Amino acid sequence: MLRTALRTRSFVRPLSTNADKFVRIVDVSPRDGLQNEKAMVSTETKLELIDRLTDAGLKTIEVTSFVSPKWVPQMGDAKELYPQVLKKYSGNGVTYPVLTPNLKGLQGALESAKQAGKPLEEVAIFGAASEGFSMKNTNRTIDQGFEAFQQVVDEARKHNTRVRAYLSTVIACPYDGFMDPKRVAELAKRYLDMGCYEVSLGDTIGVGTPSHVEALLEQVFKHIPTEKVAYHAHDTYGQGVANILKAVEMGVRVVDSCVGGLGGCPYAKGATGNVSTEDVVYALHGMGYETGIDMDKLSSIGEWISKELNRANGSRAGKAHFTKMDKPKL
Ligand code: HMG
Ligand code: MG
Repeated sequence: MLRTALRTRSFVRPLSTNADKFVRIVDVSPRDGLQNEKAMVSTETKLELIDRLTDAGLKTIEVTSFVSPKWVPQMGDAKELYPQVLKKYSGNGVTYPVLTPNLKGLQGALESAKQAGKPLEEVAIFGAASEGFSMKNTNRTIDQGFEAFQQVVDEARKHNTRVRAYLSTVIACPYDGFMDPKRVAELAKRYLDMGCYEVSLGDTIGVGTPSHVEALLEQVFKHIPTEKVAYHAHDTYGQGVANILKAVEMGVRVVDSCVGGLGGCPYAKGATGNVSTEDVVYALHGMGYETGIDMDKLSSIGEWISKELNRANGSRAGKAHFTKMDKPKL
């Protein structure tokens, strides 16, 4: 049935091989999920979160940001946390990228790798589709951002470090309103042209619907191969899973999310958390896709971290699954 449904649209790829069935989840909880928390989360709790996500079968876990601690205080322990992560897990088949908005950030990540005696496998740069968000989030215009990113990509290449790109506010910006999909597609292509291996399209304020996603991806796929695109949804209007399924139906196989629906951006007022990893995994598994993630373990992580942060678990599937199963230790 899934195949029949998929074939009805021109931009849709039928599921024909096992590779087509695998969706890589990039869990961004330790970074995007926690960056907006007002109370400081201890480095130990962050490390435990990373440990639990690794154990649950995630293949990519974004662990921290090498950004200015004046801008995002919650990520101020990156230099303490990251060497420990690399030392413990490097070479285990899981990737642990970090955000590096400029050369100073990349240097911080490289120093951590040196300290751990491990290679720096992957970093991520982050720009926006709107000038308003670019200024608020990074204090520079879109073009100034590209200049800084090119330096990061050039330096990263010398260390064999892969660079992922985030393009935020791809549907709408809290300051500039709705975006033109053609413009977003051109910006997304610029990241690949400069040497990034993948671009993650972020609906940072979570206002998009599946129709917005469709209109956006139709433009993006005119410029960029499907396999270089990831989708990053926020759940402000409860559209996160629907939007991801639209992206997956159109061929996207990399999806960003956070356990317990954690997160929100410090520079996107009113936006709620990222789409929850549990909701995404539940929907994908139910539709015959594979993620390699253990739903029992995942749902206990959502419950545990929500309790640690003293907030309600933002994942509907996570809560329901956790309630039904034999409880592992929290
Ligand atoms: P700036 O203030 O314009 O930079 O910030 P500056 O070059 O003038 O430097 C100011 C100070 O910051 C200096 O320190 C620098 O050394 C320091 P001081 O002399 O005042 O003591 N500094 C740094 N410190 C540590 N690490 C660095 C670094 N760079 C400069 N890398 C900057 C420019 C880009 C650094 C700043 O705006 C910043 O850090 N912004 C980060 C904001 C952020 O992390 N936002 C959240 C992530 S993006 C997001 O959430 C969206 C996403 O999740 C996708 C989605 O949801 O759509 C990716
Ligand atoms: Mg986000």
